[in-house]
Amino acid sequence: MGIALSYVHAVYVTSVREWTADQGVLHPVPPDSTRHFLTATGGAQTGDQIVPTPVTHAARLSVAPMMDWTDARCRYLHRLISRETLLYTEMVTAPALVRGGALHLLEYHPEEHPVALQLGGSDPVELAQAAKLGAQAGYDEINLNCGCPSDRVQSGTFGAVLMKHPELVADCVAAMGEAVDVEVTVKCRIGVDDQDPEVVLPEFLTRIDAAGVKRVTIHARKAWLQGLSPKENRDVPPLDYDLVKRMKQQFPHLHISINGGIADLDTAEALLNSGLDGVMIGRAAYHQPWDILGTADARIFGVAGEQNAEDIVRQMLPFIEAHIEDGGKLHQVTRHMLGLFAGRPGARRWRQILSTGATRKGAGTDVVEEALGAVTTEQAA
Ligand SMILES: Cc1cc2nc3c(=O)[nH]c(=O)nc-3n(C[C@H](O)[C@H](O)[C@H](O)COP(=O)(O)O)c2cc1C
Repeated sequence: MGIALSYVHAVYVTSVREWTADQGVLHPVPPDSTRHFLTATGGAQTGDQIVPTPVTHAARLSVAPMMDWTDARCRYLHRLISRETLLYTEMVTAPALVRGGALHLLEYHPEEHPVALQLGGSDPVELAQAAKLGAQAGYDEINLNCGCPSDRVQSGTFGAVLMKHPELVADCVAAMGEAVDVEVTVKCRIGVDDQDPEVVLPEFLTRIDAAGVKRVTIHARKAWLQGLSPKENRDVPPLDYDLVKRMKQQFPHLHISINGGIADLDTAEALLNSGLDGVMIGRAAYHQPWDILGTADARIFGVAGEQNAEDIVRQMLPFIEAHIEDGGKLHQVTRHMLGLFAGRPGARRWRQILSTGATRKGAGTDVVEEALGAVTTEQAA
């Protein structure tokens, strides 16, 4: 704990740079704590039985990839709250890694495991190279984004538009799977635009299944590629959980996680009890991290935990100090912590003190301690 991100970054990014420099064999130098996970590849399968590996086990509950939100600081917080849940990075595009050399985008803390890297792209060769960089950096899973509808993403033939090109997706995931030992997974929608999800979703799953994918997360609504903003595309198209449940019946050998509109663990448990293998939660986990993740280890994974949200704040302090010592800003960490006390006494004061205090010049952990003091005072009142 408390190892600065930049330290980790320096260790493995140096190794990745060596590879990009000589275009030869990768020289992996992952931190010790990640090595174990490099061998923890997922998805061994016998007949219709999914044999759980550490990462498939964790996929019973995952926090969704969310651009600008699930950065390394956010994931560190989530990992403190839940030891077991699978975490996803923000989407990183393959061109940014392979052509742009933006290897800093692979930065993560060794405590984050199990952690999946989400890639965006549609060129099999480039995606294979990017997947290799991700696996080399120590990610436990490489996920292909086939669900993100934003304009920027569409222009590069990434994301949800790929629902229209299942054969290309199959080529991409096959190439990625050849390039890495860790599990390659897909996150998709049920369809886009005027596609009939009843037809296209099983076709899509058949293709990626044949290409070697064993685990898929389905955002249970369509994306409209024109006319709706990315935000509207997360709310307006209706959810169809039943279709996703039927896909599990039709593809029993695939590990299928459901995503979209899941706002509490009661719903997550009900979906798991309905036969689905995993549940992915996005916005609710971000806005109410304690509510969603605080009891996830006990409820979803059967692992007891005894900490509370206040403990999490205290455990964040050394991480925040290291972040600031490294030249980072307090608010870059605390912006992810605003919802920690959501719905509880003191939540408002907590948010107020953090929002105003954390952006001040030279702000440090004393702001967090002051906010925590206000919460404990209000809770005792
Ligand atoms: C701010 C934000 C950014 C997102 N970025 C991504 C992304 O990078 N990749 C992706 O596959 N989905 C992205 N999504 C979609 C989520 O992963 C998820 O599918 C969606 O929010 C529905 O789940 P929810 O209802 O639990 O939030 C993003 C969602 C939000 C709110």
